[in-house]
Amino acid sequence: MFVCRAHPETGFSLLAAKVYRPRHERGFRSEAPYLEGRSSLRSGRARERSATRAIERRSRAGKALLSESWVRREYEVLRRLQRAGVRVPHPVACTEQAVLMQYLGDEQEAAPRLLAEALAFPAASRFRAELLDAVERLLRSGLIHGDLSPYNVLVFEGRPWIIDLPQAVDAAVHPDGRALLRRDVTNLTRHFARYGIADDGLECADALWSAYERGAL
Ligand SMILES: Nc1ncnc2c1ncn2[C@@H]1O[C@H](COP(=O)(O)OP(=O)(O)OP(=O)(O)O)[C@@H](O)[C@H]1O
Ligand SMILES: [Mg+2]
Repeated sequence: MFVCRAHPETGFSLLAAKVYRPRHERGFRSEAPYLEGRSSLRSGRARERSATRAIERRSRAGKALLSESWVRREYEVLRRLQRAGVRVPHPVACTEQAVLMQYLGDEQEAAPRLLAEALAFPAASRFRAELLDAVERLLRSGLIHGDLSPYNVLVFEGRPWIIDLPQAVDAAVHPDGRALLRRDVTNLTRHFARYGIADDGLECADALWSAYERGAL
């Protein structure tokens, strides 16, 4: 992640450039669970199938597509979530290798991760509620973060901001949606248990999932 001085037209003074290097081309084994639920943001089944084949064969075209698709995916998900009222960095632009987005932080320092913040009790309880509300909004827009934890939440201007979204999955088609949702939610509730708040992540996740399945979200 690079901090960049922004063009005034963007409306920001600083921007974050998240550059996708080969380390983002995780092994196919670890990508597979995420790729399964990807169809709805890509256009056309045939294109999807030939892209999947290229990726599976690990051809040069496949590798290029894979890193391009992670970048594109993160950009599209950021846009979708912002429309859904989830607090995420504002997406500004995207190339084949990088996403340019609002920088959370100021000239002096970057916003800390939730993990590193010692919150006072009322703030902790508010943060937890806001994050569970964000998970619900994500699901209402058909998405599950898939790697949500106190590492991927930044604390900026006194609020929690969700980051790191390229692996977000489509809840409607992913075979392990419920399990991924449970993992995301319990990662959060386990963190907030240190503030003495009940660690009821499984119940929360299951309630959300059943509301989602009933079309009642
Ligand atoms: N918009 C942003 N504003 C400020 N800092 C950011 C922003 N996006 C990312 N960062 C910083 O860069 C780090 C890595 O970003 P991110 O989690 O999106 O990428 P990653 O490649 O998955 O990295 P990691 O494996 O460390 O989680 C974050 O933990 C955060 O400290
Ligand atoms: Mg991360």
